[in-house]
Amino acid sequence: MALIEIRGVSTVFGPRPHDALAQVQAGMDKTALLATGHTLALHDIDLDIEAGEFFVIMGLSGSGKSTLVRHVNRLVDPTAGRITIDGDDVLALDAKALVALRRQRLAMVFQGFGLLDHLRVVDNVAFGLELRGVGSAQRTERAMYWIERVALHGYEHHYPAELSGGMRQRVGLARALCSDTDIILMDEAFSALDPLIRSQLQVDLLRLQAELGRTIIFITHDLDEALRLGSRLAILRDGRVIQVGTPQEVLMRPADEHVAAFVREVHRARALPISAALSPWPAGEPMPPVERAVHADSSMEQVLPLLVGRRGPLAVRRGDTIIGQVSTQAVRDLLARPV
Ligand SMILES: Nc1ncnc2c1ncn2[C@@H]1O[C@H](COP(=O)(O)OP(=O)(O)OP(=O)(O)O)[C@@H](O)[C@H]1O
Ligand SMILES: [Mg+2]
Repeated sequence: MALIEIRGVSTVFGPRPHDALAQVQAGMDKTALLATGHTLALHDIDLDIEAGEFFVIMGLSGSGKSTLVRHVNRLVDPTAGRITIDGDDVLALDAKALVALRRQRLAMVFQGFGLLDHLRVVDNVAFGLELRGVGSAQRTERAMYWIERVALHGYEHHYPAELSGGMRQRVGLARALCSDTDIILMDEAFSALDPLIRSQLQVDLLRLQAELGRTIIFITHDLDEALRLGSRLAILRDGRVIQVGTPQEVLMRPADEHVAAFVREVHRARALPISAALSPWPAGEPMPPVERAVHADSSMEQVLPLLVGRRGPLAVRRGDTIIGQVSTQAVRDLLARPV
């Protein structure tokens, strides 16, 4: 049994969602449905998310990503289907059980930060613990620990309005981590950030994830971000899941033309040798045996599957000598550069 199981979930927005869904099942298409004042946001979704996964949901605007993740904590209820966490039917919970589930198991980080403007950073971060009745001294201590971890030390007594966007995003992240829930839902959490800060937060989050082993469901419409972060990805289009797989699987075997179009961008690097992204082997990092290194003349395309999802540096050799390493960041830079 997977930690989170989503079965046959369909969601219609509009005045009579059940009637509208019946019409879809009888063959009505999306456009005709729209004319009746209904939107089919999700259509027959099945997904399993395992404990400890970094699960990325990717898709274009309007494909249903936010709706899907909001079903997990029931900010929005689906029209049909079943969602379980550890086998418990989430959709059947009464109000009290739902509050308990949200406090104890699910934290959410929003794109718009979702911070409480009248609370200082430390109290924003500690908010989840306060809701759970953790005493003041203990929750402040926990909050300070996470403030430190997201590099916001010194800002604990500031108000959100006094922080930059990237800093506010860090507060949101610290709050989610501090809540000590085993599941974290992140909806375009980094999208509003400039590329440098975003890339730094991605590294931080990967490091924390590796260390803490929490289950993260992360929404993005950015392929680079999805490939960099996800242990698995689900690609949504028009409310349907069109592919689920590891970054390697999606890159190497896109399920259809739509996924291929996403991935094509990555193939810009086909013509470039990996040596174009070479940097010195990091001092102090033990060097792997030369058989584990890739040849400097390998194409980016060949090396990419070894890099995505990888935590440490990848050694590069020429002949029998390791001449340096390539990192995900160097690859990102390469991909961003026109061939
Ligand atoms: N509360 C709502 N009422 C009516 N329609 C809605 C509502 N929320 C979402 N929708 C519709 O459902 C579809 C899916 O929306 P959703 O917000 O899940 O997409 P998304 O993939 O998160 O998009 P984005 O990348 O722009 O955030 C869209 O067509 C949207 O217009
Ligand atoms: Mg969205």
